[in-house]
Amino acid sequence: MAKTQIILSNRQLALKLLDRKLKKLNDDHSRKYFILTDENVLEHCMPTLICNVTELEEADFLELPSGEACKEAEIVTEVWKSLIASNADRNAIIVNLGGGCVCDVGGFIASTYKRGIDFVNVPTTLTAMVDAAIGGKTAINLDGAKNQIGCFRNPIITCIEPAFLETLPENELRSGEYEIMKSLILNGSGIDSFPSGNVPDYTPLIKECVDFKLSVVKADLLDKDLRKILNFGHTFGHALESYYLSLNTPRTHGECVGIGMLYALYLSHKKLGLSRNTFLLYRTWLSSRMAIPHFSLKEVEPILQFMHLDKKNCDEAVLCVLLQDIGVPVIDVAVSDNEICDTLLSAAKI
Ligand SMILES: NC(=O)c1ccc[n+]([C@@H]2O[C@H](COP(=O)([O-])OP(=O)(O)OC[C@H]3O[C@@H](n4cnc5c(N)ncnc54)[C@H](O)[C@@H]3O)[C@@H](O)[C@H]2O)c1
Ligand SMILES: [Zn+2]
Repeated sequence: MAKTQIILSNRQLALKLLDRKLKKLNDDHSRKYFILTDENVLEHCMPTLICNVTELEEADFLELPSGEACKEAEIVTEVWKSLIASNADRNAIIVNLGGGCVCDVGGFIASTYKRGIDFVNVPTTLTAMVDAAIGGKTAINLDGAKNQIGCFRNPIITCIEPAFLETLPENELRSGEYEIMKSLILNGSGIDSFPSGNVPDYTPLIKECVDFKLSVVKADLLDKDLRKILNFGHTFGHALESYYLSLNTPRTHGECVGIGMLYALYLSHKKLGLSRNTFLLYRTWLSSRMAIPHFSLKEVEPILQFMHLDKKNCDEAVLCVLLQDIGVPVIDVAVSDNEICDTLLSAAKI
């Protein structure tokens, strides 16, 4: 599969570089651009994009609903129809301007329209900058279940401009920080390499996460083995996301992964000999950012059920990514129901 060119720079330089690359790619002006975005991004980021990337001045744009609502088959069909109506041919280029949702659905639309056309990701959330906009996974949801339909296809360019983060709501920024912590734990940098202070300089952190993700994806694009390490914290995290949603008190994906990593580290200590200090260091970091939930026996049962729904589990056993040490993940560790219950009841307290 073709590789993605990554552009990462601050102070709108990334956008200027994108402009140059697109002009070169389309020097005979034969390629039409279609910008996919959502209502919030249209307001907060589109003017900056167009101002800096003059190549896109004439682009058509399509506004999608924000959040998971855009990752639906009906939306995909509507966009396919709009592309046909606008005479988008196989040379057309889709530009996904937005968070992980727009990048996921836009990537899927581009991958399937006329058997696949080029697309560019311009992520505008921290989560999309460090994760969703790179690695070639595209997806939509089906019947409320996340990412059931999709394929692998790389964007031709991912252009990361951290200045877009200035308008991102605080909770979305925090959500992305947990994914950054995940990378720092997996790549060996460690828990205490996350900068202290309220608003870190995100650019070097984004670069570190992007480099790490690219190295993993290069070794295992299709998620057969090594790439599974990126699910660290996510088996518990996804179950918690569904659990909080079922209570009508949704929490962000990143927050749930943040709690999920605590549980994974607890189990890593119990089962794989990860040091207790590493687990405690993480818990201290987490508790400086949120009130860690203390679950009762009654609450544990539905969370356990959600864990068994996780699409990564084979043959009933719940499989988790655990750690022998910082930077030494182990995939597909089978975890019993008793161990899950003990973790949910004890990890916040011991
Ligand atoms: N493909 C992958 O490898 C991958 C990896 C991680 C996550 N994902 C997917 O990404 C999605 C989550 O992405 P997300 O966390 O970026 O959420 P999101 O795309 O829903 O964006 C979060 C919110 O922020 C708004 N927003 C975006 N940029 C903004 C800005 N600069 N200023 C103001 N508001 C802005 C959006 O309109 C939205 O309301 C999930 O569907 C997840 O499955 C995919
Ligand atoms: Zn995640």
